[in-house]
Amino acid sequence: MGRINIKTAKKKIPVTKNLYGIFLEDINRAVDGGLYPEMLRNRSFEDSIPPIECTLEDDGYAIVSPTGWRDEFNHGEGLTRWIRQNEVPYTPIPAWYSKRTKMELDTSDTLNIHRQAALAVHFREGGIIYNTGFCGIPQKNGASYKFYMFAKAEKPIKLIVSISEGDKVYASAEITVNSNTYSLYQATLVSDGDTRKAKFMISCPMGGMLKIGFVSLMPEDTYLGHGLRKDIVEKLKDMNPRFFRFPGGCIVEGFTPSTVMRFRNTVGPVWERPGHQLMWHYRTYNGLGFHEYLQLCEDLDMEPLYVFNCGMTCQARKEVLMEGPELEDMLQDTLDAIEYAIGPVDSKWGALRAKMGHPEPFRLNMVEIGNENFGEAYEERYIKCYNAIKERYPHIRFVANTHVEKHGLPVDIVDEHYYNTTEFFAENTDMYHSYDRKGPEIFLGEVSVVRGYVGQFYGALGEAAFFTGIEKNQDIVTMVSYAPLLENVNYNAWFPNLIRFNNTECYGIPSYYVWKLFGTHRGDYIVESTEETDRIYRPVKGMASLMGAADLVYRNAVWNGTKVEISHELMGRVEESSGIFTIRTPDTQQREESSRFHGVNPDEIFVIFGEEDVTSGTFEIDIRAEQNREIILGIFSSRIPKEVYISDETHPPKDWNVGNVRPFLWRLKDGRSRLEEKEFPENVILDQEKDVKLNVDEFNRFRYTTDGKKLLLYVNDELIHEIEIPSFKALNTVVSDTDQEIIIKLVNMAEQDDEVVINLDCDVLDEYRSYLLTAHKMAENSFEYPENVHEVEHVRKGAGKNFIYKAPALSVNVLRLVKKQGGY
Ligand code: AHR
Repeated sequence: MGRINIKTAKKKIPVTKNLYGIFLEDINRAVDGGLYPEMLRNRSFEDSIPPIECTLEDDGYAIVSPTGWRDEFNHGEGLTRWIRQNEVPYTPIPAWYSKRTKMELDTSDTLNIHRQAALAVHFREGGIIYNTGFCGIPQKNGASYKFYMFAKAEKPIKLIVSISEGDKVYASAEITVNSNTYSLYQATLVSDGDTRKAKFMISCPMGGMLKIGFVSLMPEDTYLGHGLRKDIVEKLKDMNPRFFRFPGGCIVEGFTPSTVMRFRNTVGPVWERPGHQLMWHYRTYNGLGFHEYLQLCEDLDMEPLYVFNCGMTCQARKEVLMEGPELEDMLQDTLDAIEYAIGPVDSKWGALRAKMGHPEPFRLNMVEIGNENFGEAYEERYIKCYNAIKERYPHIRFVANTHVEKHGLPVDIVDEHYYNTTEFFAENTDMYHSYDRKGPEIFLGEVSVVRGYVGQFYGALGEAAFFTGIEKNQDIVTMVSYAPLLENVNYNAWFPNLIRFNNTECYGIPSYYVWKLFGTHRGDYIVESTEETDRIYRPVKGMASLMGAADLVYRNAVWNGTKVEISHELMGRVEESSGIFTIRTPDTQQREESSRFHGVNPDEIFVIFGEEDVTSGTFEIDIRAEQNREIILGIFSSRIPKEVYISDETHPPKDWNVGNVRPFLWRLKDGRSRLEEKEFPENVILDQEKDVKLNVDEFNRFRYTTDGKKLLLYVNDELIHEIEIPSFKALNTVVSDTDQEIIIKLVNMAEQDDEVVINLDCDVLDEYRSYLLTAHKMAENSFEYPENVHEVEHVRKGAGKNFIYKAPALSVNVLRLVKKQGGY
């Protein structure tokens, strides 16, 4: 039974107004065809044009950057699995098909200098071209859709634009192109039916020649008329987000200089905005640009956080460092962006903002210098950007990607990203208790459970438990956002994502409801509370492994008294001679395999013994100790669930690989022994260093024994380490209050109901409201059951100074108790 003692008289810290926000990156085709509801895919005919610095490989199925970063391209269609799953027939001009018509790209006679291609069309009589949209063109009965195109024809040509599916025509209009220079042609199409799968057609009854420079089809009904898809924006609004981090993410970094996000490419008339290939396997047309992002901030009353490229491409994708004029220009792009946002109307970029319909400055008080950048090259660029912006805009607060303050650099906020398991988040609720309050504020810009219970309720529960710790530390952790935010389910590149959508509907995964609950029920002060609860042990499993330098020698490997052999050679090959085994250096194939995983040394070995499903027992082995050799013994060596993101399906990683086996590491070197866990950004110490005596040039006996709750490590029969397996609280709580109310958040991670004793220092009314989110561990939401997991509001009775609240097994509970005035 859990218990919570609450002292409302002891106000600990004020509630931070902007704690919960959102982070949007254009991944999973989140933007075009989604939040920005353009219905025609490849509206500028450039999707099949690879980035300028990249080479096409595998017959157009991949692009490779000059530094060697490889990504699926598929002739501009994107990931292989999208093509397979959506049964996309091949077309050299993605999304565009034709009948009785010749259609080709014209790269010389384009609409303007920012467009790299136009579509040259030669209709025969009755010929048509059509666009299949983002897996179909949706139609809603009675809805209006705005069509426009820039086109030209040497001789006037009569066209019918329509939205149809088989014989059914939902809407149509006639257009005559009668200018031999690019001109704008428009039509409003009003649909007379509902569908998701129509096609957009341009037909030409009489035949003729036409050149199209740019096309667009968009619903007229958008959020506040500002051009964004209503249901998705409403879903965001319901979360009560207080800040908005944009536009990325890795897309800010790009993988070549031409694929970096640049402000200047995202403002002005959309047909004049250059597009570019994004990191996530498709091209953006930048219709959702800087102005539109700031407008959304204003519409949802969110504090903008603009993330900009600081002069380097993505370090996880073989970076390019910008120098000299290129770096200066990148920095100038950011200064221009800030001027656009808040500069006066008589400034160059402020004037464009006014022309775009927003003479008043937007709000912009924070910027982030780079995304997930690190190291010396980052810090050099960081301070350059910091100084240039600070000088012109002293009010702006700066977010850094790493703890640059440790190297003496000025910073207001540091952005930490955590993609991990439910258990990681539940085990780390007190992560920020020890952070230096004199240091920078912390922003958790990207947080989500991405392994194990992905997109499932137990994942959401882990995030909820974590938030109880975050809320207690909101004097230092001042902002937090989930990542990624949006996913077009037909173009999934990453999973999970908070909100999933198709062309007509959207729903939140279980995590959405956790973020919504925490974002909605805030209070004014966090008050003192202490909790009593059981602990839940991390479900560990798997056998031993050996790692480190090659030519390691061992013998007599035994599991529970029975000889055990190596089951997986991830790196290195094992040779045996008279019962003595030597692990030799990795072969070429293994090196190649491992080169795709971050931080793997291609010279080091990694071999695994026995089976992966064991949870308890004793492993023993004799290992020959050598001067200067580090011995690394892995404990609980099993595969963690597969990576959510695979950039190149044409070369998928092996099932067992050095990236997805991450045991506890028992490391012994120079008479010292320690136990740690591999973790990003740095390993976690499971037990402090201890002295150990190894007999050099002799076999030493190593042994570990575990029952799933404890782990004991011996060398030559001497106990060196004894630890408890990491565990987390079954009940996680945080309490805030206002003058009128007490808000108690209870997260029950246990699979049993918990009759929680609630002990208050003041009187409350008998009646109270509660919000309950509970489900099976693996419960999910779907288009069929979008609210299978969602919060339910109850009005309950029985609250008092001491009362019992039954928190259901696996649940998030928010209780809003009403204070009796003068009730202390
Ligand atoms: O959210 C997906 C990606 O994860 C982001 O682009 C990046 O910042 C992180 O690595």
